[in-house]
Amino acid sequence: MKKILVIGSLNVDMVVNVPHMPVAGETILAGNMELVPGGKGANQAYAAGRLGAHVTMFGAVGSDSYADIEKQSLSSAGVDTSHLLVRKDKSTGLAWITVNDEGDNSIIVIPGANATVTERDIAAHDCLIRDCDILLCQLEIPLKTVVYAAKRARELGKTVILDPAPVPQQFPEELYSYIDIIKPNENEAAQLLGEQVKGCEEASDKLRAKGIQNVLITLGPKGAYINSEKEGKHLLSVRSVPVVDTTAAGDAFTAALAVRLASGFSLVQAVRYANEVATIVVTRRGAQTSIPSAEEVLFDN
Ligand code: RIB
Repeated sequence: MKKILVIGSLNVDMVVNVPHMPVAGETILAGNMELVPGGKGANQAYAAGRLGAHVTMFGAVGSDSYADIEKQSLSSAGVDTSHLLVRKDKSTGLAWITVNDEGDNSIIVIPGANATVTERDIAAHDCLIRDCDILLCQLEIPLKTVVYAAKRARELGKTVILDPAPVPQQFPEELYSYIDIIKPNENEAAQLLGEQVKGCEEASDKLRAKGIQNVLITLGPKGAYINSEKEGKHLLSVRSVPVVDTTAAGDAFTAALAVRLASGFSLVQAVRYANEVATIVVTRRGAQTSIPSAEEVLFDN
């Protein structure tokens, strides 16, 4: 199987379940707070590992017990964490997550060590990019670093997949030219375009016009929309399930997509599988705690 490299964030999530999201000035009571391994980058690496891929995670953690939580979780999924940077003067990234009774979440990320990953760090680990087939990136580490990594991967002929979350105020337009597949959700697609669009076909056409061959827009319970130069336009639906917690569903989708592409499946086949993986994730609590193993995904392309 081809090799997947994830360059991105590692956070420990502090998760609180609440009956509804508090509004400004409101105080509400919740049960206990749980510590869960998370971070968009680490979630993708963990998911790809659980789904059977050969995966390396690159990013930065602090020298603290949160880093141990992340490393143990990733290692349990078979992810190579030996290249992670350890910043003695920084905390591992943290995320405060509230999940309401509908399973929706709101997330505040304190980047900590994630904010220290530089272009120079990527250059010093060029061997990781040379050695991979597929690079997965998100936007919880500095944008310049992501642009550098994506550019280098593209120069070396690798497949670059970008999960553009969280969407920054100023998205670097240059980055579009280094991406093979971009995977925003509906809100992120609108944020990237900076305008209201009438549905995912128009949004994906506009993103394609920026030079990206493959645009996937995830639509929550409605599935995912593909707009691909080679494979055309498709709306792929998902089965209906009771939603408990949507945290990491997008991360698991991206990882599952990469895993299937790494095994030689077409984009449409890979998205069908990613839809099923994300569907399982929303029925479970937490980030990495919600991600199924390959055996648990009863799915046949
Ligand atoms: O996508 C979910 C993730 O976003 C959480 O695990 C949290 O750490 C934030 O990075």
